[in-house]
Amino acid sequence: MSQSDSVRCVFDTWARDHHASGMEGRHRVSVSEAFAHIPDQPGGRYLEIGVGNGYGLRAMAEHQFRSGTCFGLDVSEEMVRQACEKNADLANVRVERADFLDCFQTTSSASGPRFFKENPSSHSWPREMGVDMVLWSVEDYEQGFKSAGLTNIRQAFFNPNSEANADAGLLGTLGTWGVKPE
Ligand SMILES: C[S@@+](CC[C@H](N)C(=O)[O-])C[C@H]1O[C@@H](n2cnc3c(N)ncnc32)[C@H](O)[C@@H]1O
Repeated sequence: MSQSDSVRCVFDTWARDHHASGMEGRHRVSVSEAFAHIPDQPGGRYLEIGVGNGYGLRAMAEHQFRSGTCFGLDVSEEMVRQACEKNADLANVRVERADFLDCFQTTSSASGPRFFKENPSSHSWPREMGVDMVLWSVEDYEQGFKSAGLTNIRQAFFNPNSEANADAGLLGTLGTWGVKPE
């Protein structure tokens, strides 16, 4: 089975077993903290790669990007179905099934933002989920943004004291921002 198919299987099963809403519950606080850094973007375009059940897409489509367009993609058909359902009443949302590794023609993948070198208890996730994941450090994320040509790079950890993160000894969710030069 290809890497794309195995990731798709894992997340299709998760979504069918009602874990997508659990994932929303675990991520929502960190995601809200990250979203608070995004200013209003009149007419702007927002892209979420790995959109899950689409709760983040909905928040962006209703707030910072309310006069713009929000695009979501996910490798899992079931996640895409749930994200479409969650955003069905919003005219400025589009969701499609796609593997971002195909879309962006890259050969390596980095999965974050809680899976990184400085979060040792996340290191078992690839084995537990049966999917290959490239383990990047906080600095690797910064370098990745730099080599993509982004400037003004900033990083922060969100929600380190949540029950899920504190119990697992996780530093929190890693946020990395960069600005695309004009
Ligand atoms: C950990 S969930 C995060 C969902 C949501 N963005 C959130 O913050 O809660 C990761 C999502 O990425 C999707 N995904 C994983 N690898 C992908 C890939 N190569 N291309 C597109 N989506 C992918 C999964 O199907 C899953 O829905």
